[in-house]
Amino acid sequence: MLDIHSHFLPKMDDGSKSTEMSMQMLRSSRKQGVTTIVSTSHFYGDNESPDRFLKRRQHAFEKLKPLLSADDPEILLGAEVLYYPGISHSESVAQLGIRGTDLILIEMPFVPWSDKIFDELISFRYNTGLNIILAHVERYQSLQKRDIYERLFDQPFYFQCNASAFTSFRSRRLALKLMANDLLHFIGTDCHNTDKRPPNMQEAQKIIEKKLSPADWRHFARACEKRFDAHRI
Ligand SMILES: [Fe+2]
Repeated sequence: MLDIHSHFLPKMDDGSKSTEMSMQMLRSSRKQGVTTIVSTSHFYGDNESPDRFLKRRQHAFEKLKPLLSADDPEILLGAEVLYYPGISHSESVAQLGIRGTDLILIEMPFVPWSDKIFDELISFRYNTGLNIILAHVERYQSLQKRDIYERLFDQPFYFQCNASAFTSFRSRRLALKLMANDLLHFIGTDCHNTDKRPPNMQEAQKIIEKKLSPADWRHFARACEKRFDAHRI
């Protein structure tokens, strides 16, 4: 299974605090069936340049490398890029795409949106040639007017839900509905640590198997991997 959203690199953001914690997160992910994990540390364009972020990310990854074994999940380096006005004009942000793919994980701002945001993201997509995955789409519904939230799903983006969207009673209905309507393209754990926000892919799996069926989970997991593989370059 692919985990497309995680914060396991040590000391990059509010995620893992040490190499030990990072390794525990990776081993837990492996036990839960994760075979590929994308590191998506937070990137905030208003207080860091992409170049500096990339240097920090490489440094964090180098610290982990000696501890990794062949059994660990495949690691791909990316970022969770918070949208900001003007993002479509920043060529260097394109470097934050998931390495080895033409995909990028974007986090929408936690303020009411206007259609301008969609227009700018489409320009970003056009200018960079990157396909956009919108992170944890279940989180924004309560902040947005219903019509603009619904328009989100008309946009030419991929949509990702967190594993917790399935485990939380509040968002489960929405996550299952998106899945049933083929509007859920990826799932990620968005894991940050080993206690409060641990890797939890298996919990989501259990809910999907219970609410739908084990075959539905297998089909979905395979579809996510296939979709991702189609974007490897
Ligand atoms: Fe995240």
